[in-house]
Amino acid sequence: MSLIIEKLNKNHQKSAFDCDNLLLNNYVQKQAKQDVNRDLSICYVLNDIKDKIVLGYYTLSGNSIDRNDFPPDLMQKMPPSYANLPTILLGRLAIDKTEKGKGFGEILLIDALKRCVDISETLGILAVIVEPVDGNAISFYQKYGFILIPSNNKMFILIKTIPDFT
Ligand SMILES: CC(C)(COP(=O)(O)OP(=O)(O)OC[C@H]1O[C@@H](n2cnc3c(N)ncnc32)[C@H](O)[C@@H]1OP(=O)(O)O)[C@@H](O)C(=O)NCCC(=O)NCCS
Repeated sequence: MSLIIEKLNKNHQKSAFDCDNLLLNNYVQKQAKQDVNRDLSICYVLNDIKDKIVLGYYTLSGNSIDRNDFPPDLMQKMPPSYANLPTILLGRLAIDKTEKGKGFGEILLIDALKRCVDISETLGILAVIVEPVDGNAISFYQKYGFILIPSNNKMFILIKTIPDFT
């Protein structure tokens, strides 16, 4: 199997994608292409070069977060004029159930974070935000340094604290 991560396109086979979460399945099968066409997000898929079957995916979108959602000690360092802080939303991340536990989730997460760091070189970005679907997802993201925002069940990692994966 030769795997590649690339932007979702019409050649990708996504109809059988199943990560055991109906919302995340439906999203990549039915919604992702429309969101991309509307410039609302970019969807990256992990797929085999030959058969183009989607084994995993994630999405990135521009985003902002109310300053009151961040920990107060962090906000003390931010000018009050910034009511909302610039972020990138890693909106979804999922691996097909047949491929879980093989390190693909980590590969996609690192790929996403690298892109966020690259973007932060040209655009001010304080943090990357994720929206974990359940407690398992929270545990997964915590492993990589994401911090839970209890008020809205989102999690964040400061761009400054993302390890250098290169
Ligand atoms: C969460 C998910 C993306 C992990 O993908 P995966 O390919 O199975 O994970 P990996 O094999 O890359 O595991 C990487 C590391 O995370 C750990 N991990 C994986 N799933 C985990 C979980 N649910 N809770 C805690 N840790 C987890 C692994 O043990 C591994 O750590 P290790 O190297 O120290 O053993 C995948 O299970 C999934 O698609 N879940 C359903 C959708 C979802 O919850 N998405 C995330 C939030 S939107």
